[in-house]
Amino acid sequence: MAHSVEAPNPPTYLLGSSPAERERLIAQCDLLRDASRDLLSRLPLPRDAHALDFGCGPLGILDLLSDAVGPHGTVVGLDNDQQMITSAELSIEERKLANVSVTCGTLPWNGGSGFDLVHCRLLLINSADPEAITSSMVAATRPGGWIAIQEFDWATWQCDPPHPAWDRLKGLLAAAFGGDVQIGSRLPSLLRTAGAGDNLQVAAHTYYWRPHDPYQVLLLHFAELFRERMASRGVDRGHLTSLVSMLRDHLAHPGTIVRESLLVQAWAQKPLRP
Ligand SMILES: C[S@@+](CC[C@H](N)C(=O)[O-])C[C@H]1O[C@@H](n2cnc3c(N)ncnc32)[C@H](O)[C@@H]1O
Repeated sequence: MAHSVEAPNPPTYLLGSSPAERERLIAQCDLLRDASRDLLSRLPLPRDAHALDFGCGPLGILDLLSDAVGPHGTVVGLDNDQQMITSAELSIEERKLANVSVTCGTLPWNGGSGFDLVHCRLLLINSADPEAITSSMVAATRPGGWIAIQEFDWATWQCDPPHPAWDRLKGLLAAAFGGDVQIGSRLPSLLRTAGAGDNLQVAAHTYYWRPHDPYQVLLLHFAELFRERMASRGVDRGHLTSLVSMLRDHLAHPGTIVRESLLVQAWAQKPLRP
């Protein structure tokens, strides 16, 4: 089921909602499924809980939340991009998630308060104002309810053996990305500052890739998507082409291993009294 509310801001997600990006996000859900399930298993949700996946994209963790709250609980997916919501509707139908609905909009949202759990994954890393988003998540949570956030920290995204083209391209991309690419390292302080400091906990997961894994070349994929944005910031197009070409050769070498960004998870309770 889907409905729309007035979205106060137009979609701001710089990677867009093309079919290719939606497919990439769904594949990423598979990659992150075990880590996200592990996170949910640590949250002592009440029976028949009411949960929100903020910035759910084409699936997010709607399927895992559906299981976690049980058949009498409810899950809402919220995203400010109508194409993502249309894609999420399809995911819900395919997976027969009877207790899940989706809405096009953002927080603060009229229908959005008193949740037992408000979650977001890979939303803050693309955001210009992660503090405001975290505060809006806390506001949507009932006193004693949980706020859970999962974000990458690019600091640990490296290749071995190292290569100067990796460092240069990653630096150029980080500057063009539109958010703090090391936001994962700031989750505990973001939660505390937003007023959710009770029982604060943190965990992290990482992944390693070899040349046959699609994620081995994710940096090159991002470089393509952000090529025009980097060029508009004064980066020479020829320089970009040569960095991409050098790095493609290096990443294809059987001995090159890529360590993925750290997936940081932080969760805390909203205090019972302000
Ligand atoms: C990287 S995707 C992550 C999707 C999903 N959470 C997942 O883990 O697969 C970020 C999503 O957040 C949505 N988004 C970005 N800013 C938003 C905002 N202010 N309010 C609602 N949704 C937002 C985007 O449209 C996009 O679908």
